[in-house]
Amino acid sequence: MALWGAKSGKIALLRKVPFFDGLSTRQLNQVGRLADEVEVQAGRTLARAGEIGRELFVIADGEAVVRLSRGRVVHLGRGDFFGEMSLIDGAPRSATVEATTPMKLLVVGQREFWQLLATSPTITRRIMMAMAERLREADAAYSASP
Ligand code: CMP
Repeated sequence: MALWGAKSGKIALLRKVPFFDGLSTRQLNQVGRLADEVEVQAGRTLARAGEIGRELFVIADGEAVVRLSRGRVVHLGRGDFFGEMSLIDGAPRSATVEATTPMKLLVVGQREFWQLLATSPTITRRIMMAMAERLREADAAYSASP
């Protein structure tokens, strides 16, 4: 009973996260098996630039700040994700990410990440679109800098 309650709680949480919109119940159940639900306090560093990282984080609740080079910051909130870059290419974290409020996160490990993409072309597309957007923003910020 307790196990069933925990599982249905996670699926209910996944349904509320825009990142998982459009997934079937079967796909949500698969995602629920691949992701761990984690709560952290404000101020917690979730990724540190230059360090090895092996998780993708999807924000179910709360806010985080991405600290990029030259003092540039990007704010992330519910439905956003981070940590995908190191998972994809195995290189160290490109930026530091800190919780600015208490957060509820869905955390996906490296092997589970590739399973997640295989589970849903919709998720693959969302990640690719966000990466393209981040690349454009980074290029624009670079071009605008003195
Ligand atoms: P990763 O390099 O694994 O760890 C730091 C994360 O910060 C990175 O993955 C991205 O998820 C995120 N990140 C890096 N650059 C940006 C950006 N320009 N906008 C938003 N998020 C970013």
